[in-house]
Amino acid sequence: MNTSVEICGVKMKNPVTTASGTFASGREYGEFIDLNRLGAVTVKGVASKAWSGNPAPRIAEVYGGMLNSVGLQNPGVDWFIENDIPFLREYDTKIIVNVCGHSEEEYVDVVKKLRGADVDLLELNISCPNVSEGGMAFGTDPKTAENIVREVKKYADKPLIVKLSPNVTDITAIAKADVNGGADALSLINTVNAMKIDIYRRKAVLSRKTGGMSGPAVKPIAVRMVYEVCNQVNVPVIGMGGISNGEDAIEFIMAGATMVSVGTANFTDPFATIKTIEGIEAYMKKYNVNDIRDIRGIV
Ligand code: SIN
Repeated sequence: MNTSVEICGVKMKNPVTTASGTFASGREYGEFIDLNRLGAVTVKGVASKAWSGNPAPRIAEVYGGMLNSVGLQNPGVDWFIENDIPFLREYDTKIIVNVCGHSEEEYVDVVKKLRGADVDLLELNISCPNVSEGGMAFGTDPKTAENIVREVKKYADKPLIVKLSPNVTDITAIAKADVNGGADALSLINTVNAMKIDIYRRKAVLSRKTGGMSGPAVKPIAVRMVYEVCNQVNVPVIGMGGISNGEDAIEFIMAGATMVSVGTANFTDPFATIKTIEGIEAYMKKYNVNDIRDIRGIV
């Protein structure tokens, strides 16, 4: 049985990675799971300098998932290079670095600093809804998205994945613009703009008022978007949004995804990535699928 997949020449032992933002560098989950089992670890957004993110409260539970407005808190690219890369390199897994910024210059700065670093793929985060400058502001207009991808791509020495926002009318227009700009692969979806109100305190639950929703309730939206994008572009797609087990993952693969990311599920079940890998294998065994590629995009 073959579960290995390839994204832009990088071979992964299975199609499961982590969704950026839910799995800082893997240290916290390494106490529970064997990181060697993962196809790849996709780390939390890395910026040119350390950011403290948004004020609390920045997490809220909702039916079928959660809201976050973390605001891309991270220790900065220099710290990441010095501490997280050596840590992750102790494991037999690939490293995908989510790159974030407030401006084009900041994105470029991170990518320049990562030149020559021992990582496998870069994921350009132009879809975070929780920052006033950068993030989603770059990823919801096709022309702006294409321009920033083109600029960042000039400095990238690793294949460039672009992470898409679902907060658009037509996600395929953004996907095509990113590919025109030079994206080697796409990942989707980031979180869905959302809000929760505490009716007893008569105010928004999140300090920033709105945030991004993730978790099982967004899965059908994500599957639909992955399906649409896979039918419109000719680059590999990493699908995510509410995946908690092998069956969820198979849905995304049948919609056309080459890889899948497990995100919010990690917070309630630190074994969710491993269960997803084992669930994919169990499905393949039960339904005589010899190669994961045989079911990719079959819908
Ligand atoms: C955040 O840090 O605000 C979440 C990350 C993201 O939405 O990309």
